[in-house]
Amino acid sequence: MIPLSTPNLSGRESEYLQECVTSTFVSSVGPYVNQFEDGVSRLAGADFGVATSSGTTGLHVALVGVGVQSGDLVISPSFTFIATANAISHAGAVPWLIDIDAASWTIDPALVRHELETNCKVVQGRTVHIPSGRRVAAMLPVHVLGIPADIGTLCEIAREWKLPIVVDAAAALGATFADRPIADQPVALSVFSFNGNKTITCGGGGCVVGKDDRLMARVRHLTTTARNGPGYDHDEIGFNYRMTNLQAAVGCAQLENFTDYLAAKIRIKHRYDAAFAGSVYLPFPEPEGRTSACWLSGIVLPDPADADALRERMRHSGIEASSFWKPVHLQAPYAAAPRSGMTVCESLWRRIQTLPCSTHLSEADQSKVISCIVDYFALGKKTG
Ligand SMILES: Cc1ncc(COP(=O)(O)O)c(C=O)c1O
Repeated sequence: MIPLSTPNLSGRESEYLQECVTSTFVSSVGPYVNQFEDGVSRLAGADFGVATSSGTTGLHVALVGVGVQSGDLVISPSFTFIATANAISHAGAVPWLIDIDAASWTIDPALVRHELETNCKVVQGRTVHIPSGRRVAAMLPVHVLGIPADIGTLCEIAREWKLPIVVDAAAALGATFADRPIADQPVALSVFSFNGNKTITCGGGGCVVGKDDRLMARVRHLTTTARNGPGYDHDEIGFNYRMTNLQAAVGCAQLENFTDYLAAKIRIKHRYDAAFAGSVYLPFPEPEGRTSACWLSGIVLPDPADADALRERMRHSGIEASSFWKPVHLQAPYAAAPRSGMTVCESLWRRIQTLPCSTHLSEADQSKVISCIVDYFALGKKTG
């Protein structure tokens, strides 16, 4: 089977893990954790990093860090992995789900503005969502698949409505917006995931990055049970969300190869794009002025009915093929969440077919994937 995306562990992972065992630094204190935080924040264009046990816990603590409280609303796109919405729920808040813009697959800033203007009023310095009576506490845009959201426009809207922005940048390490690294932007915090299917992995893990030293100190404090000093003095309800030195050891080895792995992701996507150029299949977006980290490759089919048949054929040819994210507003736990119209993501999600794109995918295997899809298309044309 040619898998969708498997980790590339061909660097010094074993050596660094052995070092953890030898030194007994296996828990959440250790040199690799600091090194990993420095490496990720530097690559992301931020000044500080706090490594977390996962991207989801990183998002949770980031939301708490910017002041999201129980009962609040957090603006976020419906077209994302459910972890984005779950992190909002873990903070006791409710996602206010907004559709994406068709050209970038990221949250539609014009729609965010329209929804705020239509539904909200500023009451005693708080942005209140009139239909629900809830405070709107933050914006949580997502750099979907590593494609940057329109951070420039979102920041303008956030400034007007005095909302902090936490960015779900789970798969976006290496992406840029307006020629600047993805966290070198006027947002409060950005959060990455390093689970097993990301471009680089720690096995599991995340990292919150930012430029505001006080806010980042608070995030760090919250991830470590809000403990003050070496004694057992805790000044608020914190979390046990730190990354371990074992995870960070793998992450540090991965960082050494990040440039090559990112280049491989981009090369693989562009090879698919070139192979299907001029066909009925559309490429994943790369909006102007933004460079995607190209986490996942794939195609957009004209009709959702094609997706099932194509998947069947791919599996038959030994190629992993599964469906893609069902939007959050269609998921049972979020059926009642406030939301905008959803025409774009509802028409899109069933037509997406992700394609194998491990950083170590061989050209021969990629050619096999391309042939399988080209054959399916040719067959469709002959019979249909
Ligand atoms: C967009 C998005 N947000 C959040 C997450 C959650 O990250 P983790 O699996 O590290 O908790 C993921 C993971 O794939 C993701 O793709």
